[in-house]
This record gives sequence, structure tokens and C-alpha cells, in this order.
Amino acid sequence: MTAAYPMPIHSPEALPYGVQPVGRLVLFGDVLDFTADPSFSHPRDQQGVRWRPDHAVLIEHGRIVAVQARNVAMPTGWLDAKVQDHTGRLIMPGFIDTHVHCPQLDVIASFGTELLDWLHTYTFPAERRYADPEVSRMGAQRFVAALWAHGTTSAVVFPTVHKVSAEALFEVAHAHDMRMITGKVLMNRHAPDGLLDDVAQAERDCVDLIDHWHGQGRQAFAVTVRFAVTSTRDQLTMAGQLCRTYADTYMQTHVAESRDEVRLVADLFPDARSYLDVYDREGLIGPRSILAHGIWLDERDRAVLRDHGAQIAHSPSSNLFLGSGLFDWVQAQRDGVNVSLASDVGGGTGLSMLHNMSDAYKIQALQGNRLTAWKALFTATLGAAQHLGLAQEIGQVEPGLMADLTVWDWAHGPLACHRDSLAVASGDLHERVFCWMTLGDDRNLRATLVAGQVVFSACEAA
Ligand code: GUN
Ligand code: ZN
Repeated sequence: MTAAYPMPIHSPEALPYGVQPVGRLVLFGDVLDFTADPSFSHPRDQQGVRWRPDHAVLIEHGRIVAVQARNVAMPTGWLDAKVQDHTGRLIMPGFIDTHVHCPQLDVIASFGTELLDWLHTYTFPAERRYADPEVSRMGAQRFVAALWAHGTTSAVVFPTVHKVSAEALFEVAHAHDMRMITGKVLMNRHAPDGLLDDVAQAERDCVDLIDHWHGQGRQAFAVTVRFAVTSTRDQLTMAGQLCRTYADTYMQTHVAESRDEVRLVADLFPDARSYLDVYDREGLIGPRSILAHGIWLDERDRAVLRDHGAQIAHSPSSNLFLGSGLFDWVQAQRDGVNVSLASDVGGGTGLSMLHNMSDAYKIQALQGNRLTAWKALFTATLGAAQHLGLAQEIGQVEPGLMADLTVWDWAHGPLACHRDSLAVASGDLHERVFCWMTLGDDRNLRATLVAGQVVFSACEAA
């Protein structure tokens, strides 16, 4: 069974368990992906942009085996392959969301607070419920189905402090051969009862999860420090030791998101030079570190991130919604910092990476900069894959890579269709892609494939 649109994501049972393994599958459509980092602000500069209109994508055993023009003859044995004809639609690599909170689907769109209040008022109470294995299981299923229904095929995810919440995510992702990076959240202070761990137990839980899940299929463990506020120095030291012992795991956390938070961290860690330095001193910054936000960093912090090859998960809709600040992407790029894109739901207002790209554009516009659709789309596909060390697996429509793909309508609804027709008439590809990025959302999505399986498909009637 394939999940259909509109998908009842409140009903985890709608998850497409038991999908039949697809042997050979051919998708027809217009293929857009990237071969290199494109121009930040010049749409006419199409270096790194790969546009292959009216092509066929050949998929076998979960991987892409060829991408060829429609009029090229199919290889021997492919004439009876299953075909999905998406002629006139856009085929792209699935999006990679590098920072999102599974349990926070329950608090998305909560009114009236900034980060620290928001955590205590809405987020922590919701996360406490994940102590219950059934809540964790249902929550993970709902969450993964929702990612697919928005065109996201790989994610770096915060569950909760409860080991079971990480297990639930790994189980769902593994059952569908989906790339998932997650780990139990570390937090041992400044949070309510029911959301606190202790250093020794947390370490045992992490080691268990690493032993069981890290490297199991497409699952990878991330040492998951919530943020400096909710971990004692002892716990940060333990987290750093885990990163050293298990050097191929990831590390994810938040850094320098809001000004109040930065002040609080300075009070809690008076010896540290900066918020980032709290993590750096403990050995938490490395090439596999993913730090959400990074709005209020200084030049030395950016040099540390650059020198370690760590990445900032820029979370546009969250930064706007919580009023956290405007991320200076241009400066980050100038200073050589890796940047990926993230929804940060539920601080963020949607899982749609298109929405987040459109918000990213506005954040740059407010600072006098212009973000091309090329740069935004690259960042959510090949760019993220490169920063995660996964470019051999995801991020492009390329033979040998996993068939994690999305199929999109260029426009949905009369306004977008009108605008799209003008963009087509202009003959300017960037104009068309930019309109799609700016006006599009999950209603444009026709299909999502993970490892060659259709895990989301829009009803023709929708
Ligand atoms: N900082 C610490 N925890 C969180 C969280 O859950 N969301 C966001 N946006 N920032 C955080
Ligand atoms: Zn977050």
C-alpha cells in the first residue's frame, strides 16, 4: 500500500508498511540536480546546475542505475520495467532536513513566546509524553510519514531524552531503508522531571544505541546534546568522550540561537570564551557536527567551525517564528563555514523545505542580499549530503546513488499556474524554478521515493 494524499498524518496506521519491493522502475520527467556549489546571488550563472529535461531515471534494487534522454533506447531487459510517467513534472533528489524535532509536531504553531519560554511552555510538556513507548512509536511513524509527504527523504532528527524515542525513529526508518541520523537527547538539568537523565545512564543508553543501530543499514547515531543550558559540564565531557570513542558518529546540538539564550550560556559557563567554545572545549566540534542556528556567532567561532569542517543547520522559518534573529549566510559563506538547511519543526512552522528556502530568501533580503534558487536547492540536496559525508549515497540523481527521489508539479492552484506559465514563456529556467520554490509547498508534491520505493503518492484527484 502506498500512502495517498491528502495523507492522514494523524493516523500512523497510514504508513505504507508492507510496500512491495520494486524490481525495475523507470520515471519520466524533467530532472534537476546539482554537480557543484552554485552561485549564491547570480541566477544567470548556472555553474553547478544540471538540468535534464524529458529524461528517464532507471531504478533497480533501490538505486539509480541510469539517467538518459527519453529518446535513448532502454537497455536490454528494461522494456518490461514498471513505468511512472511524470512527463512535464520536476524530478529532484529528495530533500535533506538537517535539523528537525520529531516530538514537536505536537507543538508546531504555538503562540506568543521566544525560545526559552517556548521550550518551557510548550515543548518540554509535549516531549515528556515520549517516555511512553507507544507514544514514541506512533510519534515516529507519524513524523516519518509527514517528512515524506513534504518531499524530505533524509533527516537529522532530535527525538527526546528517552532512549525509546530514538529506538522508535531508528525502527521506522530502518523498516523503509531511509537514511536517518538521530540519537537520544542528552539533558540533565534545567528541564522538568521526566525529561532529565543522568550522566552514567545517558552514556549507557548512547552506547547501547550505537551498538545496535549505528551503521545498521542506513541508520547513523548522533551524540545529541540538546544545548549547553540543559547539560552540566560533566555531561558535556561525557558527550565529547563518546565523539572521540565513536569517531564516525555524528554530533548534533543547538548554538547561539537567541540573544537571551547566549546570555544565559555566558552565565552558566563563565570560563568559556563564547557559546560555541563551551562545546569546542569538550571536543564536540568536528566534521560530523551539526549545529542548529548559529545566528549569534562571532568571527572566531566561525573560524572554529570552518577549521573543523562542522556545519550550521540554518533554520529559516524557526528563526522568524521564534523571533531569534537573521542568520548572515553571506558572512558564513565568506568565512568558509558549511551551511545546510533545516525546518527545525516545531520552532519552524513547516516541514516543507520549499517553505524554508523561501523564508531563507526573505532573511537574506532583509540583510540586502539575494539568494538564488540554485543555492537554496543545492544546499538542501547535494550540499547537505557533502557536509554529512554522504554524497556517495544521497543528494543527486546520479547512477549508483540511492533512489531517494521526489516528483513535483511546477505549480498548484490558479495563481501559481498563471505565474508558472509566464515563467515558461520567459524561457528563463531560474525564473521558473524560483517561482516554484517561492510559491510551492507540499501540495506540489506528486511522489516521494525512498530507496526506490514509492512511500508517498498524491491522489490524481487532489
Ligand atoms: N534549543 C534547545 N532546544 C531547542 C528546541 O527544541 N528547539 C529550538 N529551536 N531551539 C532549542
Ligand atoms: Zn531545534
